[in-house]
Amino acid sequence: MDRREFLGSSIAAAGGVVLGRSARAADEAMRAPVPISSAEGMANKVEGARFPDGFLWGMATASYQVEGAWNEGGKGESIWDRYAHGVGHVKGGDTGDVACDHYHLYRQDITLLKRLNQKSYRFSISWARIQPTGPGAPNQKGLDHYKRVMDAALEAGIRPFCTMYHWDLPQWAEDRGGWPNRDLAGYFAGYAGILARELGDRITVWAAFNMPWAFTYYGYGIGIHPPSRAKFSDFLKALHTVALAQGESFRALKAGSSKATVGSAYSMAPGYPKTDSEADLAATARYHAMNNTFFLHAALKGEYPKAFAGEPPYEQMGVRAGDDKIMRAPLDWVGFHYYTRRVVSDAGGAKAGGLHYGTEIEADTGDTNGRDPYTRFHAVMPTEGPLTHAGLEIWPRGVYDLVMQISREYDHPVIELTECGCCYMDTPYEKEGGRVPDERRTAFFKGILAELARAIDDGAKVRAFHAWSLMDNFEWTDGYSQRYGLTYVDFRDQKRTVKDSGLWYGRVAGTNRLEA
Ligand code: FCB
Repeated sequence: MDRREFLGSSIAAAGGVVLGRSARAADEAMRAPVPISSAEGMANKVEGARFPDGFLWGMATASYQVEGAWNEGGKGESIWDRYAHGVGHVKGGDTGDVACDHYHLYRQDITLLKRLNQKSYRFSISWARIQPTGPGAPNQKGLDHYKRVMDAALEAGIRPFCTMYHWDLPQWAEDRGGWPNRDLAGYFAGYAGILARELGDRITVWAAFNMPWAFTYYGYGIGIHPPSRAKFSDFLKALHTVALAQGESFRALKAGSSKATVGSAYSMAPGYPKTDSEADLAATARYHAMNNTFFLHAALKGEYPKAFAGEPPYEQMGVRAGDDKIMRAPLDWVGFHYYTRRVVSDAGGAKAGGLHYGTEIEADTGDTNGRDPYTRFHAVMPTEGPLTHAGLEIWPRGVYDLVMQISREYDHPVIELTECGCCYMDTPYEKEGGRVPDERRTAFFKGILAELARAIDDGAKVRAFHAWSLMDNFEWTDGYSQRYGLTYVDFRDQKRTVKDSGLWYGRVAGTNRLEA
């Protein structure tokens, strides 16, 4: 497929023309208005798309992926420092030791955000900068660093959106048992209280966790991220500790800062049943509950959604009487990412299908060694739409379905899209004055934003969209071999070059329309 054909098929996928029987058979909640049925229709949709006044256009980063300065300013070691320094974990032996050097270059990066008309900067705080060696007294240098960053954002007229935890657990907390240890809920609430008291005059928008389902599953369930444990029972315990920590930190933030509004940054990917059989419909509902709404439901309802084939394995999770009250937190708004979708089927009988999730193309191994007898679904990323360089299917229609489904299920909450983006490896092109002509990324955002505008037109209360990412950065176990940035980073000299997609996105942010 050449680039032109790619753009055509990308637009077709945006319109949902290739929506198969399976997707049409989606549960009632997935019933959606008639799909746009031609590339021309989609182009019209892009041209016609308008976003409300005051819509918060933003970009996102995460501490370990951009900051560098891994051992400066009194920072302690995190599990990602330990892991990346180990042999055989990250492609190319890459580490986040320097990353984008955002720790030192934050001023110029915030100036860039301003130049691109951004209204919201979603960043994360490194817990190990605030509490380097254990719970208790904070490291003043760490707090001062984030105060400076926040002041720069506020001076630029940009709303700071703080994620308190984007995967870089302090090593001391892992040494005390990590997320399967219930004590971490209390440690995390202590950390949240410090942040609220120290930074709560500057930050009013807080999310506790980035993708809680993913870091518990990757880190403890299958061991492909630090701390590399692969024990399903640890994953179940970690899920519960994180749900408790979410509730506890909500209260700590509110107690520490009267201005705090608290939400979330969940990973979500809409699930479409593979067939319209009862079994696949039920499996899709379990998938949705496990992958998408597990923590949201825990917070808003004080109970777990029906993610398991039977009763939740409360005992294995370590649930105690009264935990429902700890988990419950009336979030002020709901945040989630959108990257791609899943087609879901029932795993059948006792031999369970694995939960698969990732930036890789998922495959059903068909053999999970009895790891997951609870959820019993197969969730597979289809490949009907075009793939990014990370191998993720592009399915713009999914954002519409997901936003509408969450709106319906949770009584029309205020929604923030916390991440959305794509990996393409385009580089500066000398013959065009060093520009980065990454038109596939622009096409990706056009398709998705047109669908998002449609959801807003249909009543969804979406107030913000954050592109992942402000700049190319350390992409976890893929190191620097994947580029998600709207700004190109030359990691040899830290030179930033805004890509064509970034310039386009800046115009969108300035005009609230896609044909910018
Ligand atoms: C999300 C993560 C983010 C980044 C993007 C590509 O799952 O939250 O840190 O790695 O994927």
